Amino acid sequence: MSIRLSNGTEIPIEMHKIRIVQKVRLAPARDRFRAIEEAGYNTFLLRTRDIFLDMLTDSGTNAMSDNQQAAMMQADDAYAGSESFYRLLDSVKEIFGYEYLLPVHQGRAAEHLLAKTFVKPGHIVPMNYHFTTTKAHFDLAGGKVLELYTDEALKTQSSFPFKGNMDLGRLSVAIEKAGPENVSFVRMEATTNLIGGQPFSMENLRQVKALIEPLGIFLVVDGSLISENAYFIHQREAGYENTSIKDIIREMMSIADLCYLSGRKSCSVRGGMIATNRKDLYDAIRPWLPVYEGFFTYGGMSSKEIEAMAVGIREMTQLEVAGASADAIKYFVALLEEKGVPVVTPAGGLACHVDARRFISQVPQSEYPAGALSAAVYLTSGIRGMERGSVSMDRDEHGNDVPSDMELVRLAVPRRVYTISHYQYAADRLKWLYDHREMIGGLEFYEEPPVLRFFAGKMHAKGNWGQPLLEAFEQDFGLDC
Ligand code: F0G
Repeated sequence: MSIRLSNGTEIPIEMHKIRIVQKVRLAPARDRFRAIEEAGYNTFLLRTRDIFLDMLTDSGTNAMSDNQQAAMMQADDAYAGSESFYRLLDSVKEIFGYEYLLPVHQGRAAEHLLAKTFVKPGHIVPMNYHFTTTKAHFDLAGGKVLELYTDEALKTQSSFPFKGNMDLGRLSVAIEKAGPENVSFVRMEATTNLIGGQPFSMENLRQVKALIEPLGIFLVVDGSLISENAYFIHQREAGYENTSIKDIIREMMSIADLCYLSGRKSCSVRGGMIATNRKDLYDAIRPWLPVYEGFFTYGGMSSKEIEAMAVGIREMTQLEVAGASADAIKYFVALLEEKGVPVVTPAGGLACHVDARRFISQVPQSEYPAGALSAAVYLTSGIRGMERGSVSMDRDEHGNDVPSDMELVRLAVPRRVYTISHYQYAADRLKWLYDHREMIGGLEFYEEPPVLRFFAGKMHAKGNWGQPLLEAFEQDFGLDC
């Protein structure tokens, strides 16, 4: 929720009080320089003891509610037939309106099962945009991911409310070209992660379904960020101003044939699931669950997390929970815009996205501007963001780099974790960095894994630009900041 102050400014207001805290440390810049050098300029390889604000991801890092914690105490640790599973099933029935549930240990496990069951060599899988793990699983199964976004999607500065929409014309052409029998399914990702947490509209979801249903193609929603997408529909789509988040989610689910998700985001736990009303789809996936994940009633999740998820699914439909990160991101993005720092607009869900291409236009895409900027942000603030650009794209079959559509530094906003002073600090240090942007150079790999290289790859700063940047920072802020 946001609230308007008497001077007219709008601030995100926390509809909770903080009763458990975790101490953080702001290591001096000199130590941060050493840490990022050791991490090969890859923020994934930093240790949390060296991090002040961890904005790498909102995945598994949200604050849980007291009710979620309390529910964990009643976990029924049975290998088979656990009551915890049935409590989660009740929540899924109530909120999603789905009868069939397959729990999995996290989102990518659901993607693995979907790939194993439905994606065949030569198939296409149309989607509004890929996610890294989705693409990896569908590629490994021999499918081809097609991203059929609209013209608005890749504009980093925009006022278009639904940049996560699918282009229906492109979808129709793609299906005709491949033949409907060669389409595994169509995937719509809620609050499209890699293009800046941008939602799709209910209207677009409905239109996609209307196009593919007569062709016998089913619709999958990646609902990892489903409550945020519902929140944006509530805020931005005509006719939904007075519809509850619960009813919006219910409507989205009634259009989709199947929903899978990472429970680590909107649901504020560590787990995942596949849910559907289509018995044929459920029956096709189900045999693989105990092979890859665990027995049908736990699927690799702990009973405690299953209990917390049963509560988290219900709580994410509360307006203030669905909007907890979106409202903070809106505030954070506005602070940065005010200071002239290039960010993705409109503000989306999950994170504030800094546009590295516009921030450091002197760094060519072949030298990974988003990677370089993520490292520079850490060095000057102790804030860990995530590279979401060409480092996050693996090489093609000829060993060539695949330039990413966007070069973004994602500063994730976990739900109910940070406060206004944290965003103010972050915006201040980013502004300093923007004023010193000409000091930032590119990166070059010296260790590069073949799959999902962004997790473990290591890079050098070309021309060793980190050292002079550190010195300029220390000159302005002293040795302790
Ligand atoms: N789908 C989406 C849209 C995601 O954002 C993620 C994870 C996954 C699937 C995979 O789920 O991590 O539970 O296996 N996103 C995290 C992130 C990793 O940081 O954005 P997972």
